[in-house]
Formats: sequence, C-alpha cells, structure tokens
Amino acid sequence: MTRRVGIIGHPVAHSLSPAFQSAAFAHCGLDVVYERWDTPAPKLPERVSSLRAEDVLGANVTIPHKEAVIPLLDELGGQSARMGAVNTIVNREGRLFGFNTDGPGFVAALKAEAVFDPAGKRVLLVGAGGAARGIAFALVEANAAAVAIANRTYERALRLAREVGGAGGTVTAEALGGALGEYDCIVNCTSVGMHGGPDPAGIPVPLESARPGTLAVDIVYAPESTPFLAEAGRRGLRTLGGLPMLIYQGALAFELWTGVRAPIDVMFAAARNEVTRRAGGAA
Ligand code: ATR
Repeated sequence: MTRRVGIIGHPVAHSLSPAFQSAAFAHCGLDVVYERWDTPAPKLPERVSSLRAEDVLGANVTIPHKEAVIPLLDELGGQSARMGAVNTIVNREGRLFGFNTDGPGFVAALKAEAVFDPAGKRVLLVGAGGAARGIAFALVEANAAAVAIANRTYERALRLAREVGGAGGTVTAEALGGALGEYDCIVNCTSVGMHGGPDPAGIPVPLESARPGTLAVDIVYAPESTPFLAEAGRRGLRTLGGLPMLIYQGALAFELWTGVRAPIDVMFAAARNEVTRRAGGAA
C-alpha cells in the first residue's frame, strides 16, 4: 500500500517540503507520497480527522494552523504542549500525536552544520513572532546560558521573554540596536531579507558592535545568502543560512513518521534544486 504524508496549511503552494521529503522517501526506497493539503480554517477539523486513515503516516502543519490543530489531536509529544504549537502530526493506528520539530531542528542545524552547541552560550534572537518562539523554547531546552529577544515592537519581545522564561532569568527582552559584543550567536528570526518579503534588501539589526567569530544565523532561506549574512561575513562573523533549519525540522519529522534515519544530504540537494529552479523564474 502506498502511504501518504502531506503539508496542511493555507497557502501551501510555496512550501519546499514536498520537494525534499519526496526525494528522501525515494532515496530510502519507501513507498510514500508527499502531498500539498491546502486547508482553509473551516476545513481543518475534517482534514485532521482524515489523517487517521490506514494509509496516512502523518502530516506537517504550517501557517496558520500550528496552534489550531492542537485540540484536534489525541496526544502531544516533546515540547509541543508547552509551546502551544505543532508542526508535525504522526498517525499511530488511528491515534494522532503532535510534535514540534521547528526549534529542535534549529538546534540540530546549529550543531551539525555550524558546529555550535548552544549549551552555555549567549544567544540574541531578533524578532518575536512564531519562528522566534520555537527557537527560544529550544535554546532554553538546550541549556543556553542566555537568550535575549530584541524586536521592532518591543512589547512583543517582552511578552515572548516572559512566556518562554517562566520563572527562570535566562530569557530577557532587549532593545533593538544595543551592543552585541556579549553574544556568541545572533539569529535573524524576522522576515527581513526574504525574497518577496516586507524588506528584501534590509538588515534586521546593525552588526557594528558584534565580535568577529560570533555566529550569525538567518532563518530566511530564499535567498540562501541574505543581506544580513553578507554583512556578517564582511565583518568577520561566521554565518549559517536558513536552509539547514528547514531541512533538520523536516528530517526530524521524517524520522517520526518512518522510523528511518533521514538522508540529510539528499534532502539538502533536493531543496537547493527547488530553490534554484524557482529563482530561475519557474515558480
Ligand atoms: P513568524 O511567525 O514567521 O515569525 P510573524 O509572527 O509575522 O511571523 O513575525 C514576524 C517578525 O518579523 C516579527 O518579529 C516582526 O516584527 P514586529 O513584531 O515588530 O512586527 C518582524 N518584522 C517583519 N517585518 C519587519 C521589518 N520590516 N522590520 C523589522 N522587523 C520586521
């Protein structure tokens, strides 16, 4: 029996997941197809309920449904309950389990692709939306010494810091534009620099005061080298683009669905091909 996995969101047309997950299934000899399940909000209960079918392994969940799917699931695993967001659903004999691999994928990408273990490190997140949220939770879980959140709208940073930090003092809100010398890693969690986004030529935080050797990470993956990463490179910072985070969250989801080790290199190659194909005007 051919099994199915899909991405539930609205819209889903631009997701790279079908390209790199399909390549991974094929490489591992698994008879699984990855589909785009565009789902407007009123159709979400019906869509989630359809995942209980015998031929469905599970799903990815993306904007705007990561929170709304939770009451439709049977159990939550990992940090997803605390985070209040699910990006991966696994169907185990008709019972639906929710997970969140976004933050763990980010940490896995840091470790594997930048050889940077956040344990004991000081990290600055620029941005306070859903992406920053997942990353902040994962960095606390990975024992970062400090997680600072700076954002254009300071109140959002404050709210997120309180929510993630709870009673602990490791998560703080900071002013955007403060000195950066104390950070080991600076992460752009905004859409600034994204192709087709609100400010494709912009840089989310001035880097003058950053120490050379600090790791600059962008969650934006199109283009693969953003203005933020280019500027970081000019100033002698180390850089990591957004594609690894996307691939590692997908790899963790792949392993939850199949129990098979994800072929990371195959997934990278397929995602890069797709990004290049789209940049060529084929999108
Ligand atoms: P996501 O879930 O992808 O993180 P989001 O919740 O819309 O998306 O958050 C987008 C983030 O990018 C926010 O931190 C936003 O800042 P505000 O909270 O001030 O809106 C940030 N952002 C978006 N456009 C920006 C811009 N032009 N300059 C600076 N920050 C921007």
